[in-house]
Amino acid sequence: MLELKDVSLIFNASTVHEKKALDHFSLTIEDGDFITIIGSNGAGKSTLLNAIAGTLEIDEGSIFMDQKDITFMPEHKRANFIGRLFQDPLKGTAPHMSVEENLGLAFCRGKKYNPLSKAIRKKDRPLFKEVLKPLELGLEERLNTQVGLLSGGQRQALTLCMATIVTPKLLLLDEHTAALDAKTSEQVMNITQKIVETHHITTLMITHNIALALKYGNKTLVMNDGKISFMLEGEERKKMSVEKLIQLYSQKTDQMFADRALL
Ligand SMILES: Nc1ncnc2c1ncn2[C@@H]1O[C@H](COP(=O)(O)OP(=O)(O)O)[C@@H](O)[C@H]1O
Ligand SMILES: [Mg+2]
Repeated sequence: MLELKDVSLIFNASTVHEKKALDHFSLTIEDGDFITIIGSNGAGKSTLLNAIAGTLEIDEGSIFMDQKDITFMPEHKRANFIGRLFQDPLKGTAPHMSVEENLGLAFCRGKKYNPLSKAIRKKDRPLFKEVLKPLELGLEERLNTQVGLLSGGQRQALTLCMATIVTPKLLLLDEHTAALDAKTSEQVMNITQKIVETHHITTLMITHNIALALKYGNKTLVMNDGKISFMLEGEERKKMSVEKLIQLYSQKTDQMFADRALL
């Protein structure tokens, strides 16, 4: 469904600060894949998602979505079929608007009517309640609450609903639970899993937590220095432990797995 062919992305080209954040990177993502992505800080993980979303223009190579060349498609057009979440819970929602206004905005993605029309909101209210209920956070009873008053975990859960209320072809998650405490992070991961499974959404999830990377999804992509170091899937992935993965990483890259948290 998504194909990156020989993609390179260079920051500060032809200066002393030149950095090849993606280095002849090729990857084929199948329909329904849930790929977790790990790698040291600076490996190029966020840059990869930025290149796919069109936030950053690539310098070489091409990107295809369902056989269509989207290499030069602008970010706002790709947003019609790509949902995105970041580490910062403040990034995906409008704090001074209510839960239902935020959902209303998200629901209008790619449609042509005024998202703030009250009539539309009233009509859509049952749907909003339906998408919020499975979160089990009671948000379906708080449609008029200002989003700025919600906790970080509630906001990330709401952002997930907003990113998927119009089912995207692809969901990009960049350490979306890293800013949350352990319990909330687990809750948001369970919600993520539920939404991805229910709607069969092809998903790429960056995490710095190797245990999470092995627990969720069907494949794990390990990145190093703008390239794929290795990809785990099938039996090999099922048998993989955090310790073995760290060992494999240092064998393949000649480096220690250096990151904020491993477990
Ligand atoms: N806007 C930018 N300008 C210059 N260099 C950048 C920029 N964004 C990222 N980089 C560099 O590109 C490399 C990859 O960064 P990034 O994709 O953010 O890594 P990761 O998400 O794996 O930690 C790093 O060396 C980083 O310093
Ligand atoms: Mg990053």
